[in-house]
This record gives sequence, C-alpha cells and structure tokens, in this order.
Amino acid sequence: MDEPLFYLDNVSFGYGAGEPVFRDVSLQIRAGEKICVLGANGSGKSTLLKILCALIFPGHGSFRFFGQEITEQRMEDDGLARDYHRRIGFIFQNSDVQLFNASVWDEIAYGPLQMGLSGEQVRQRVADVLAMLQIENLRERSPHRLSGGEKKKVAVASVLALNPEVLILDEPTSGLDPKTERWLTDLLLELNRNGRTIIASTHNLDLAHVISTRSLVLSEAHRLVCDDSTHNVLANRELLMDVNLIDEYCHFHGDHEHIHRYTHG
Ligand SMILES: Nc1ncnc2c1ncn2[C@@H]1O[C@H](COP(=O)(O)OP(=O)(O)O)[C@@H](O)[C@H]1O
Ligand SMILES: [Mg+2]
Repeated sequence: MDEPLFYLDNVSFGYGAGEPVFRDVSLQIRAGEKICVLGANGSGKSTLLKILCALIFPGHGSFRFFGQEITEQRMEDDGLARDYHRRIGFIFQNSDVQLFNASVWDEIAYGPLQMGLSGEQVRQRVADVLAMLQIENLRERSPHRLSGGEKKKVAVASVLALNPEVLILDEPTSGLDPKTERWLTDLLLELNRNGRTIIASTHNLDLAHVISTRSLVLSEAHRLVCDDSTHNVLANRELLMDVNLIDEYCHFHGDHEHIHRYTHG
C-alpha cells in the first residue's frame, strides 16, 4: 500500500546529443493525488509528463511505477507496455496527434479493441463513455472535422474507455472555450474523487488552483525548483516571478504602491 505510484530518483533526460533537459529530478507521486506541473514555455513540462507515460525514458537515474523499474528495454515487452498504457492514460496537448480513426465511435473503440475485449464489451464501453461525456451526438462524426473543444472531449473519451487509474494531461485547457474548460475541470475533479490520480501540466495559475492540491514547479533552466502544496506555490510571488509564471511591475500613485499582476494563459 505504501509503494508510491511513480518514483523518480535522480532522473536525467536529454533529447539526442543535446544538453540534458533534466538533471537529477527526484520526486514521488502517490495514488489518488491531483498534481499540477507548472512552468513557463520550454521549462520541460511535456518532457516530464512523457517520462511518466513511458513515451520517453530517462538516460540516468531510476524511474519506477508501483515499485517496478520502467525502462525502454522492459517496455519492449508488449504485455507490459499494453498494461502500462491501459493503466496510465495520456491526453496530448494537441488532440490532432491523438485522433486518427474515421469516426468518433471507432476512435473510442480503438483502445478496448486493442485490449482484446469482446465485440459486445467494446460496444458497451463505448456507449458508457459516450453517455458519461454526453457526446452521443458525435458518434458518427469524423474526429478531424470537429471543433477544438469537441476533439478534446473525444480524446478524453478515448482514454477513459480504457478506464485508466492515472490520467496525465498536457495543458488540458489550452485553446478551450470557458464552458468546455469548466466541463473538463469538473470531470477531472470527479474522476479524482473516484480515486483516479490526476497529473496535469499548465502555465495557467487559475487552472492549477482549481484542479490540484500539489504543484511541481519547473524553472526555465529545467530544474524542479519547488514541490509543495498548490496553496503555498500560488502564494509565493517571488517563486512565480523567478520561473516567469507572473510578470508584475510596481509603480506609485502618490503614496500608494500599486501592483499590476499579469498571469499567462
Ligand atoms: N523532441 C525534442 N527534441 C529536442 N529538444 C526538445 C524536444 N522536445 C522538447 N525539447 C526541448 O526541451 C525543453 C523542454 O521542452 P518541453 O518539455 O516541451 O517544455 P514545455 O512543455 O514546458 O513547454 C525545451 O528546451 C525544448 O526546446
Ligand atoms: Mg509542453
């Protein structure tokens, strides 16, 4: 029971022969948490999420899922890879990367079919997810012709069809209208109340406030500079300025200091 869900110990990662994006990142994530990965553009949020999803692998250090070492070599075992990607759902920032089937129904059925469920079970799963997300009306549509918000819903549906324990979302609300954003945050909170672990990257401090209780803050130099409650992180203006998540300037109206604060996103 005490085993962390994810365990990173001195993990380093670099793309190709370039400078490492991360050096010596250590952190643990427990089942049932709701976490934000906060950082400015290019700070390494997507990279960290892809490591957690086992889409890329650390060059050094140890990465474990429920105590099991996850390496590129081990993930070549189809059984392990399938199990991992069933238990950990990844929702890409850009839904177009995720959607490749001819219809929404096919898109949502794809994962369960890959898992070897029977035709009847697959039909049931797809029907359940379409109903849960209230997108039955989209079932025959081509995913590519949907609006950005509808695409996001279908991408979320295709991941939920596998009933994952962990949902990892890269900038989940970017480009969404306020109503769809609210729909998604409510859904994520409900999934978390039902025991799912939620990990989302963002540079949007309002979103961090709504969907997380813990924040991992990455600096522009790709360092994990803070791992604390979201409450403490959002109250730490100096930290948020250092990592370029807020920009503020002070000026005086008579004797009164006046601070303008801008947040990204
Ligand atoms: N496929 C890639 N090849 C080389 N460098 C990359 C690649 N993806 C990201 N990077 C670099 O890694 C750093 C972190 O990028 P990323 O994880 O995408 O940041 P974020 O998601 O916070 O914007 C950036 O300096 C970026 O240029
Ligand atoms: Mg990114």
